[in-house]
Amino acid sequence: MEGRNNKMVGKKSLYVKRVDGRKVDEVRPMIAEVGVVASADGSASFETGGTKAIAVVRGPRTLHPQHMQDPKTGILRVNYGMMPFSVSDRIRPGPSRRSEEISKVCEWALSSVIDLSGFPNTVVDVFIQIPKADAGTRVAGLNAAAIALAHAGIPMKEMISAIAVGKIDKTLVVDVDKEEEDFKDGEGSTDIPLAVTSRSKSIALLQLDGKISLGELTAAIEMGKKACEDVLKIQIDALRETTDDRRQMTGGKNG
Ligand code: CDP
Repeated sequence: MEGRNNKMVGKKSLYVKRVDGRKVDEVRPMIAEVGVVASADGSASFETGGTKAIAVVRGPRTLHPQHMQDPKTGILRVNYGMMPFSVSDRIRPGPSRRSEEISKVCEWALSSVIDLSGFPNTVVDVFIQIPKADAGTRVAGLNAAAIALAHAGIPMKEMISAIAVGKIDKTLVVDVDKEEEDFKDGEGSTDIPLAVTSRSKSIALLQLDGKISLGELTAAIEMGKKACEDVLKIQIDALRETTDDRRQMTGGKNG
């Protein structure tokens, strides 16, 4: 197989050429936009191939009911959902076990980089919506949410960038699409979504759905961390463009 960094794990993988012709360590074309919902305190979209996530931030605002308030800090609440027409089988609107799980893991990952100690008794709500899905929606959602939180001016210690690594039979690949995720031959497909912080490079999310050896997992994490650098560049460029736009609008006086 062609590739700058061929991570074929065993000698004979049944997955030798990626469906869309990408190299094993190549992400799909990515686009990030900031300020996609004008009425929100912060918003962003993040697109990778056929997957798109929109994240909207509201807050900090006083948390109700009062007994849920924390006098020492604000809290983060994440709500993830797929739009009914985001995949070919219509998604039933409303919460599901899957959406609850994804909301929670995104909440934990994002909570590790934000600092709401200056906003006691408040809540910051993040709504993640998926208008089109071709695998990797939780990581796209996290990427959009991290940009949207920065756009909202929420204090952040670091950025978060996320990617899904896959083991398709014995081959490790980054930014898995749905066709790869559905691969059934040999060892089948193992999905490993992970999120990495921008400065300390700590892992803020690591999930695993499938079978993998420790050595393969270590290699998968290394590959994922490298791909997160590509994601981070896209996120920073999108945020920088917004700041530049604001500067132009204020004649360079603010920002
Ligand atoms: O999207 P992500 O990879 O984070 O989560 P998943 O649960 O592993 O879902 C993988 C993919 O399956 C999604 O991105 C969608 O493309 C698809 N899916 C679907 O077609 N119908 C669902 N109810 C849920 C997911």
